[in-house]
Amino acid sequence: MALSYLLSVIGLIFISITPLISSSSFSSPPFALKLGSSLSVEKKDDFLISPNSLYTAGFYIVGENAYCFSIWLTKPLSDGSHTILWMANRDLPVNGKFSKLSLLKTGDLILRDAYQRLPIWSTTTRDSTRTVLLRLNNSGNFFLQNREGKVLWQSFDSPTNTLLPNQPLTKFASLVSSRSQTNHSSGLFKLFFDNDNVVRLVYSDSKLTGIYWPNPEFRTWESGRNVYGSRRIASMDSSGHFISTDDLFFNTSDAGDQPLRRLTIDFDGNFRAYSLDKSRGIWQVTWQAISETCKIHGSCGENSTCSNDPIYGRNCSCLPNHKMINRTDWSYGCEPEFKWASCGNGEYNFLHLPHSDFWGYDSRYMPNTTLSACKQECINSCSCKGFQYKHDWTKGFSICYPKFLLVNGLRSANFNGSMYLKVPKSIPLSLNSDRDFQGFNLTCSGKPTIQLDRDYDINSQKESIKYLMLITYVFGALEIICIICFFYGTRSRLNTEGYLQAATGFKRFSYAELKKASKNFSEEIGRGGGGIVYKGVLSDNRVVAIKHLYNESSNKKGEAELLAEISTLGRLNHMNLIEIWGYCAEGKHMLLVYEYMENGSLSQNLQSNKLDWDKRLDIALGTAKGLAYLHEECLEWILHCDVKPHNILLDCDYRPKVADFGLSKLLDRNGTRDLEFTRARGTRGYMAPEWLFVNLPITSKVDVYSYGVVMLEMITGRRPACANQSGGSEGRLDSWVGEKIAAAGGKNDWIQEVVDSTVDGNYNISIMGTLIKVALRCCEEAKDARPTMSEVVDMLLHLEEDE
Ligand SMILES: *[C@@H]1O[C@H](CO)[C@@H](O)[C@H](O)[C@H]1NC(C)=O
Ligand SMILES: *[C@@H]1O[C@H](CO)[C@@H](O)[C@H](O)[C@H]1NC(C)=O
Ligand SMILES: *[C@@H]1O[C@H](CO)[C@@H](O)[C@H](O)[C@H]1NC(C)=O
Ligand SMILES: *[C@@H]1O[C@H](CO)[C@@H](O)[C@H](O)[C@H]1NC(C)=O
Ligand SMILES: *[C@@H]1O[C@H](CO)[C@@H](O)[C@H](O)[C@H]1NC(C)=O
Ligand SMILES: *[C@@H]1O[C@H](CO)[C@@H](O)[C@H](O)[C@H]1NC(C)=O
Ligand SMILES: *[C@@H]1O[C@H](CO)[C@@H](O)[C@H](O)[C@H]1NC(C)=O
Ligand SMILES: *[C@@H]1O[C@H](CO)[C@@H](O)[C@H](O)[C@H]1NC(C)=O
Ligand SMILES: *[C@@H]1O[C@H](CO)[C@@H](O)[C@H](O)[C@H]1NC(C)=O
Repeated sequence: MALSYLLSVIGLIFISITPLISSSSFSSPPFALKLGSSLSVEKKDDFLISPNSLYTAGFYIVGENAYCFSIWLTKPLSDGSHTILWMANRDLPVNGKFSKLSLLKTGDLILRDAYQRLPIWSTTTRDSTRTVLLRLNNSGNFFLQNREGKVLWQSFDSPTNTLLPNQPLTKFASLVSSRSQTNHSSGLFKLFFDNDNVVRLVYSDSKLTGIYWPNPEFRTWESGRNVYGSRRIASMDSSGHFISTDDLFFNTSDAGDQPLRRLTIDFDGNFRAYSLDKSRGIWQVTWQAISETCKIHGSCGENSTCSNDPIYGRNCSCLPNHKMINRTDWSYGCEPEFKWASCGNGEYNFLHLPHSDFWGYDSRYMPNTTLSACKQECINSCSCKGFQYKHDWTKGFSICYPKFLLVNGLRSANFNGSMYLKVPKSIPLSLNSDRDFQGFNLTCSGKPTIQLDRDYDINSQKESIKYLMLITYVFGALEIICIICFFYGTRSRLNTEGYLQAATGFKRFSYAELKKASKNFSEEIGRGGGGIVYKGVLSDNRVVAIKHLYNESSNKKGEAELLAEISTLGRLNHMNLIEIWGYCAEGKHMLLVYEYMENGSLSQNLQSNKLDWDKRLDIALGTAKGLAYLHEECLEWILHCDVKPHNILLDCDYRPKVADFGLSKLLDRNGTRDLEFTRARGTRGYMAPEWLFVNLPITSKVDVYSYGVVMLEMITGRRPACANQSGGSEGRLDSWVGEKIAAAGGKNDWIQEVVDSTVDGNYNISIMGTLIKVALRCCEEAKDARPTMSEVVDMLLHLEEDE
C-alpha cells in the first residue's frame, strides 16, 4: 500500500510536469512546433504565428463544437470577421474537445478527432533525421522542414480556395470554392489546369458539370489562351502581376502597390483578386475573371433565370409558376407549382419569355425553322422542356433549339432571343411583364454555426501516455477503486432494505448544488445522446455522473409532467440499468444525476481491448436482461432507441448497466404518450431499418436490432459501417458475417474468420457459433423475424447451461 501510494505520488508529479515538457509555448518560439508536440483545440493560445505576426495557424471554429485547422489573417476585418486562407480538414470538422494536431516523432503531421483512432487528416510525411519543425513563415506558408533545409510538406502545395502572392497554382493542385459564405466545406466551383494546359473554371454538382471560363462559346485561342504551355504554372506576385503558362496575364487595378493580396475562388463561382485596405479594414476587389456574374454556370440552379444587377451583382428568379426548392440556397433551383400529365396525353401551351436564354442542353439544332414548326417539334418530344428561338440576321432565318434541361438561365436586355417554356394547357398565359418573376432574397439564418452531433470516448486518444505513467496510474487507481467499490458495496446493501427507500431516495437537486458538485461543470466525461456528461461529487461524497441535457424544447412540458416521467425512470430498479439518483429542472437547465461507473463505457473498453471472452459473454447477457426488463417487465413505453456501446456502462467488476434509457421519450417535444417519435433517432450503424421508412411502426424490435449489432461488434471487433444511410446492406456487420458463413459452405471454418483473434481467453467453437447466430437473428431486416429481448436472454442462458 505504501509503495503504491508513493508511486501514485510520483505519477501525479509526472503528470503535472508532462504538459510543460510537451508544450510548444514553453520550450520553443511560438512560430514553430517541435517533434512530438501538438496543438490542442481546447487551449485558447495553442496557435502558431508567423514572425511578422500577419498570419495565424490554429483551430478555427466553424460551428457549434466544430473546428477546422486553418490559417487566417491575424488581424480581424472591420466587421470582426477573420479571413480564412487555408484549411486542413474543411470537409471534416473536428470536435471542440480532445482534438489535436500533432507532429509525430516519425515526421508525420496528423490531425486527430476526439473519438477516432485513425487521424482524419495527415501529411503522410516521414523523416529519419528527427529534426523536423513545423513553421508558418512570413508569406503565409505553413511547412515541415528538417535541419538540412528540406521542405517535406507545405500548405502552398495544397491550397483550398485561396492563393497568396507567390504561391503557385500547378497541375497538381486546384482551388475549390467554399459551399457558401458561412459553410467552409468544398463547394461547386473549381479553378484548375485542364488537360489542354489551359486554366479554367468549372461548375460541377452531383448531376451536372460545365466549364464556364474562358467563355465556352469561343475557341481557346479566341480567348487569348495558349494550349502549348505544358509547364502549367500560374501565380501572382506581391505587386499584383499575374502570369500563367497558358498566356493568361493580368495586372490588378492597383498593380505596383504592395498591399496584402489574395486570389480567391469565391462561393459564387467567380475568381477574384483582392487587396486589403488596411485603414478601413476591408478587402477590395482589384480584378475578377467574370464581370457578368450570370455567365457563371449553375449559380441560380435549375428552372430559374439570372439577371445581372449593378448593385447586388446577380439576381436569381424562378420561372413563372415555379417556386424555390430550398429558400436558403439558390443552387437547388426551382420546381414547378403545377402537375405534369404523363407524356403524350395532355395539351401544351408555350410561355414566351423575351430576352431570355438557357445555355446548353439542346436536344437538337434546327436552322431555318418557323416558330410553329419549332413548337410542334417540342410538343412531339417528351423530354422537351421548352425551346430557345432566335433570329440570325446574318443568315436571314430563325434558329430553333429545343432543350431537355433548363439550367444556366439568363435574362438580359442585350440578348435578342426568346425562350418558349412548355407548360400544360391549364396554366394561364398571363405573363406580360416581369411581374410574375419572383425575386427571392436569400433567407439566411444569419447563424454561422453547424451542429455536429458527435460522441466520443474520453480515453481512446491519449496516445502519449508513457508506460511508467500507466503503471503508477494503475497502482494509484487500484487503491481508489478498491475504496469506491467498498463504498458501493455497503451502499447497495443498504439499498436492499426496501424498494420504497430507493424510490424516495430519488431527489430533486438545485442547479447551484450540481454546479458546485461538478466544480462548475469542469470535468467532462462524455458527450452525445442528448447532452454532455460531467463527473461530480455530491455533498455526501457520492461520486455521480451529471448529464446536462441539450434542452431545445425549453421545457414545453410542465414541470409536473417532467417530474412524473423522470421519477418513473428513477423508479426503475434493475441491476443492469443505470440508477438515476435525481434530477434538476430550473429555467432552461435540465440535468439528470446518475450513479458513476468506474470503468466507463463498453465502447471505451472495446477499443482498448480489456475484455476477455468471459466478460464479453457476461456483458451480452447483462445488457439483454436490462433491455428485456425495460421492454417487458416494466412500462411498455420505454424503448431505448439508442442502444450502442457508448450507452452500455461497466461497473468496477465489468458488469454492464444500460444508460440513457427513456431519454428519447423525455426529449420528445410533443410529450405524446404514444409511440410517435420524431423519425430517425439513434446512431448510424446501430439503427434498425424501420427508422428509414415512414410507414413502419417503431416497436421494441428497434432495440433488438441495435443490440444485435453491438453483439456482433463485441464478437468480431469490427465497428459497424456508418455509411449505410440509405439502408443498403453493403458494409453492414451482419451482411459481412453472413457472407463468411455462405462462403464456408456448411463447415464451421467461418467462426475463426469472424471472431476477433486479438481477444484474450478461450472460447468453445460451437457456443460461439450459436452466439453469432443469435446476434444475426437480432439483426434481421424484418422486425417480426427478430426475437424479443427476453427470448434473447433465454437463448443466452441456455448457451451458458450447455457450457
Ligand atoms: C516562405 O516559404 C516559401 C515557400 O517555401 C519561400 O519561398 C519563402 O522564401 C519563405 N519566406 C520566408 C520569409 O521565409
Ligand atoms: C502589367 O504591368 C507590367 C509592368 O507594370 C507591364 O509590363 C505589363 O504589360 C502589364 N500587363 C498587362 C496585361 O497589362
Ligand atoms: C436547405 O439547405 C440547407 C443547407 O444545404 C439545409 O440545411 C436545409 O435543411 C435545406 N432546407 C430545406 C427546406 O430543404
Ligand atoms: C424543372 O422543371 C421541370 C419541368 O417543369 C421538371 O421536370 C424538373 O423536375 C424541375 N427541376 C427541379 C430541380 O425541380
Ligand atoms: C429556308 O427555308 C425556306 C423554305 O424551306 C427556303 O425557301 C429557304 O431558301 C431557306 N433559307 C435558307 C437560307 O436556307
Ligand atoms: C437586337 O435587336 C435590335 C433590333 O431588333 C438590334 O438593333 C440590336 O442590334 C440587336 N442586338 C443584338 C445584340 O443582336
Ligand atoms: C430581381 O429581379 C426581379 C425581377 O426583375 C425584380 O423584381 C427585383 O427587384 C430584383 N431584385 C433586386 C434585388 O434587384
Ligand atoms: C430583399 O433584399 C433587399 C436588400 O437587402 C431589400 O431591400 C428587400 O426589401 C428584400 N426583399 C424582400 C422581399 O425581402
Ligand atoms: C455545408 O456544405 C456541405 C456540402 O454541400 C453539406 O454537406 C453540409 O451539410 C453543409 N453544412 C451546413 C451546416 O449547411
